[in-house]
Amino acid sequence: MSTKISKVALLGADGNLGPAIMRALVENGFNVTVLKRKSSKSPSSYPSQIMVSDDFNVPELTETLKGFDAVVITVKGSQTDLQKRIAEAAAKAGVKRLIPADFGSCDSSTQFAQDTVPLFKHKANLRQYLTDLSSKNPSFTWTSIVCGHFFDWSLEFLHIHLSQRKAEILDDGTAKWSASTLGQIGEATARILRRPDVTANRMIYIQSFLVSQNEVVAAFERVTGAKWEVKKYESKKYLEEEGRKAKEGDLEAVENLVWLVGTVEGDWTGKKDFAMKELGLGEEDLERVVRRTVERLG
Ligand SMILES: NC(=O)c1ccc[n+]([C@@H]2O[C@H](COP(=O)([O-])OP(=O)(O)OC[C@H]3O[C@@H](n4cnc5c(N)ncnc54)[C@H](OP(=O)(O)O)[C@@H]3O)[C@@H](O)[C@H]2O)c1
Repeated sequence: MSTKISKVALLGADGNLGPAIMRALVENGFNVTVLKRKSSKSPSSYPSQIMVSDDFNVPELTETLKGFDAVVITVKGSQTDLQKRIAEAAAKAGVKRLIPADFGSCDSSTQFAQDTVPLFKHKANLRQYLTDLSSKNPSFTWTSIVCGHFFDWSLEFLHIHLSQRKAEILDDGTAKWSASTLGQIGEATARILRRPDVTANRMIYIQSFLVSQNEVVAAFERVTGAKWEVKKYESKKYLEEEGRKAKEGDLEAVENLVWLVGTVEGDWTGKKDFAMKELGLGEEDLERVVRRTVERLG
């Protein structure tokens, strides 16, 4: 059976990440069909689109996914049960590759990430499910992408307050972390599907660049031509305080913890599955990306 992937189903095309993945898949010549739940309120429609029941039931999805080579999921990463149903249906339908909604700010395989943010336990749990499913159905495979913080998406999430020319940093701001633009994540997704042989059943780590918070602030200062105000937090204390608030249900604190983990434990360059070379992906220029982002958001 050919491993070549050409027909791809995408669920989540209207989210934060979905449009960039859609664009890259189309530009790379894949034949893309968007799956939409029937209750979807997203205004966009696509040349090739299939509506699916809101309960994402396995028998219906199995019929829907017949003939597809791959499924890419960009719904919220916390939707583990929904993704398990899609995976089960994909395996039954003969789909060769599934890319789940990982796209992590953080490496969800580490104990620190899992202990700090429950979402990462869910992501690891889903990978275990996919691993088991693949061992029972060898023609079904998966790839999970870890990209670091989305860099050109929500600057507030990165604690960069553009309009106020203010930033928050952890410790002395020198810890290095991998970050990716949405465009780079889209391109990585396409390249993974172009090379199904070497990307099967593994986590793949990518980046646009490896940066420190000091380097990021300096780039924003150069691009905006202004001196920025920098507030520093001691990461250990911040972890304790935000961890306590997160346990009480504070969602902003959960986001702050994701920011922390992806900053203090976010360097992918030493990981064995850091796959920039394997995928033939180049890095991007920090200052050029900052300039583009400031022009768009500033
Ligand atoms: N590394 C980072 O910095 C970072 C940042 C953000 C997200 N992420 C990750 O990126 C991935 C995608 O996240 P995202 O923020 O792009 O997602 P999102 O914006 O919440 O996107 C949700 C999308 O899923 C669709 N959808 C389909 N079925 C759904 C259902 N049952 N419930 C809710 N939505 C449903 C929605 O479309 P309709 O409403 O039209 O159905 C929408 O297009 C996740 O794995 C997330 O963890 C990473």
